[in-house]
Amino acid sequence: MQRVILTLISVLSLSGAAHGSGQAQTKPIVPAPVFEIIQKRCAVCHAQNPSYKDVHAPPNGVLLDTPDEIVSNRQAIKTAAVLTHFMPLNNLTGMTKEERKIIETWSKYN
Ligand code: HEC
Repeated sequence: MQRVILTLISVLSLSGAAHGSGQAQTKPIVPAPVFEIIQKRCAVCHAQNPSYKDVHAPPNGVLLDTPDEIVSNRQAIKTAAVLTHFMPLNNLTGMTKEERKIIETWSKYN
């Protein structure tokens, strides 16, 4: 009986450990629509190898082409595309009002 209880305790604590490590590995949250907007409207310039014509390096070193980079730059994204409309530069990539709204909503919770 004691053995059963011990086994049970070890199973419970193991599953607790697994849960804990799962949390440690949690990826930053960038919902698909936000990721797609930033890919389309920003990452054409803000990538290691920008695809936008005549842009040969990420402007000001700002990279926005992976979820990690998007999350770590979230305050700058908010300032550039929501609080001001400084970005996209001259709105060359045609970001819409609805897209700015989606970015705004996401930036409130991040
Ligand atoms: C057509 C190319 C282009 C696109 C598209 C573009 N940017 Fe930029 N971005 C630039 C350039 C050029 C600069 C540097 C501007 C400067 O220093 O005057 C810049 C600078 C920035 C900076 C740094 C500002 C600072 O104060 O250092 C941020 C943040 C930024 N962009 C975010 C964005 C976001 C968010 C988007 C999409 C909504 C975006 N950019 C789309 C070209 C682009």
